[in-house]
Amino acid sequence: MSSKNTEKPWGGRFTAPTDKFVEQFTESVSYDQRLAHYDIMGSIAHVRMLGTVGVISAKESAQIIRGLKKIEKDIKREQFQWVTALEDVHMNIETALVAHIGDVGKKLHTGRSRNDQIATDIRLYCRDEIDLICDQINAVLDALLMLADGHIDTIMPGFTHLQSAQPVTFGHHLLAWAEMLLRDRSRLHDCRKRLNMLPLGSAALAGTSYPIDRNMVAKELGFDGITQNSLDSVSDRDFAIELTAAASLIMMHLSRFSEELVIWMSQASGFIDLGDAWCTGSSIMPQKKNPDIPELVRGKTGRVYGDLMALLTLMKAQPLAYNRDNQEDKESLFDAIDTVKMSLIAYAGLIPTIKVNQETMYRAAAEGFATATDLADYLVVNGLPFRDAHEVVGKTVQFAIQHDKDLPSLTLPELQQFSKAIKDDVYMVLELEGSVSARNHVGGTAPKQVKAAIKRLRKKLNK
Ligand code: ARG
Repeated sequence: MSSKNTEKPWGGRFTAPTDKFVEQFTESVSYDQRLAHYDIMGSIAHVRMLGTVGVISAKESAQIIRGLKKIEKDIKREQFQWVTALEDVHMNIETALVAHIGDVGKKLHTGRSRNDQIATDIRLYCRDEIDLICDQINAVLDALLMLADGHIDTIMPGFTHLQSAQPVTFGHHLLAWAEMLLRDRSRLHDCRKRLNMLPLGSAALAGTSYPIDRNMVAKELGFDGITQNSLDSVSDRDFAIELTAAASLIMMHLSRFSEELVIWMSQASGFIDLGDAWCTGSSIMPQKKNPDIPELVRGKTGRVYGDLMALLTLMKAQPLAYNRDNQEDKESLFDAIDTVKMSLIAYAGLIPTIKVNQETMYRAAAEGFATATDLADYLVVNGLPFRDAHEVVGKTVQFAIQHDKDLPSLTLPELQQFSKAIKDDVYMVLELEGSVSARNHVGGTAPKQVKAAIKRLRKKLNK
């Protein structure tokens, strides 16, 4: 390791070695080395193009490519020495290249800048990460659909304001989460489309005077096209913000999911249990089995929101074009991606361990007057305006509370005190099964619909 500026790729115009603190303060290699694979990929495509258009000779191009491949191998085998004084992943690799193949390595950086280089690296990285996150979303969706399939007609109370509202099926409830995750996946697809454009060729900010072929580089790197303005290309981090925003929404969904699992596993609710292998205990209370995985996912949601805020704030006051501020994009972006991936892995593992206490769920649905709306609807069918029906049912519920009964256990004469429109066919609608089966339209909770929805979602999952 050396700190003499003459040994830094940009050292020429400097007369004093960089202050040690400045080296520490400005370095990014400690974290951007994870982009090495993409950096080398981009360099290989760049140098192949330089050889093709004749900016360097075909022989030189081939030599550089060989050198870069060797460096990539060294990095993979962890036989590469990262040097802080060389600042970032780009200068580390370039310096190693020159050390390895000699002066011809110095031609690699012809017609480009670290500014368009890093913009390219992060786009390539984000593209791969998006694909991985989508795979992980699919794994969670798969687990959700499997579980839902076993609970097409398991009845539970549906809630508003966390108060028992109307009965729903557990399968239907699970599919609500599946819908959220499908939207998350499509947001990632959108983001991928916009980011898959090559910024390389923009050089420092204004483009380059060499006769480069940007489309050739784009094609080799699997980009759908090339960016259209060099100033924008080196300074744009919209794609990182979009991806972190998409990650924030995924975390928000997983956090809501977590919240419900935690509530449902509490003794007060008792709706579900999570597998022992996916829970932890207490160091003082021997009886405890805690839902730490969902709690941690809920907690980690905050850091991803923080990453999003950091990125938005990072960009808000930057004049064109590249500023060193941009180096600060990486840790937030990496953290958001790492966190969302870990959380999805956690959920794909956790969901199959969910054990449902069907009886407890059923009892809770039966206790909460969850079919009161069904009774009101019954009265409407039998001629009452909805507002009057609402009033009648309100009184009926009050009576039931006073007599410590649920709706289906009220006798016909008891019910008829509130409306003569009530006949003995009322009990069908007061039963939980009748209530859920009646909501038989697309989007409704009827077991028939849940079954159809699982089929539809399976198809989408495999797309
Ligand atoms: N490490 C830098 C970053 O991450 C690379 C670009 C540096 N460019 C520069 N002119 N200093 O943004």
